[in-house]
Amino acid sequence: MNNGSAGHEEEGGAWSGPAGAEAFAAVEAATDWLLGYPFVFEALSRRIGADDLLVDYGCGPGRVADRAARVLGARVVGVDTSAEMLALARSTAPAVAEFHLVRDGRVTGLPDGCADAVMCNHVLASLPTEEALLGVFAEVRRLLRPGAPFVVLSTDPACTEREYVSLRVGAPGASYRPGEEMPLRLLRTDGSWQEVRNHAWPVDRLPALLESARFRDVGQRRPTVEEARALAAPGLVERYPWTAERAAPPLVITSAFAA
Ligand SMILES: C[S@@+](CC[C@H](N)C(=O)[O-])C[C@H]1O[C@@H](n2cnc3c(N)ncnc32)[C@H](O)[C@@H]1O
Repeated sequence: MNNGSAGHEEEGGAWSGPAGAEAFAAVEAATDWLLGYPFVFEALSRRIGADDLLVDYGCGPGRVADRAARVLGARVVGVDTSAEMLALARSTAPAVAEFHLVRDGRVTGLPDGCADAVMCNHVLASLPTEEALLGVFAEVRRLLRPGAPFVVLSTDPACTEREYVSLRVGAPGASYRPGEEMPLRLLRTDGSWQEVRNHAWPVDRLPALLESARFRDVGQRRPTVEEARALAAPGLVERYPWTAERAAPPLVITSAFAA
């Protein structure tokens, strides 16, 4: 097994810099495509329609933003602190309408209240402090029109006991304090494992933080393999046994609305 490491701590935290962008673009993400992204799209599909503006906050290489644009028919805009990620996304995510850099915590070129929805997938774990989480929530709140949905996908840092198909959370059996550094290993498409330094944000802490950032009606769900049968790409449920995913689903979707 080959463990690479992409854990720079620049403005974008993990995955920043050219090496981080390339490393993230090569991850498999089967567990996310089973229990994560399709459920984010489902939550958004109930609230937005064709031509609405959806911002992908921390879009990385743009793969998810591109799929969202195709599945939802929305106008999708990707934003990220990493210029390298945005460069990669521009060349590989043609369905995405625009990309914008996040500089000093603010999305350049997007006005207040312009967004009909925002999704934020696997970004919070890059952030080292609660202040940084609140900074992201405040900027998302600035972008959203009142009443518009915000959907967050995160990996539960308590899921350290199991070996998931495409991820390993922390050290086996370890527990982490809020914000503590934690290794995350992700399966690459070549079968090797990529390690990145994450920060452990307990999922049950997110609702109070969102409410303090002027979001309301916060809800959470933990999608299961059985639920994924109706939403995941054809054949994905049958491709693996999903033993760990069935025993303890590791992904949590938090939804809220701009107050
Ligand atoms: C693990 S990647 C996830 C990419 C994409 N959302 C996905 O699910 O495939 C995290 C991304 O968040 C970006 N990021 C980290 N901190 C950020 C911040 N404060 N604001 C915006 N983007 C940020 C990183 O540059 C990186 O591209």
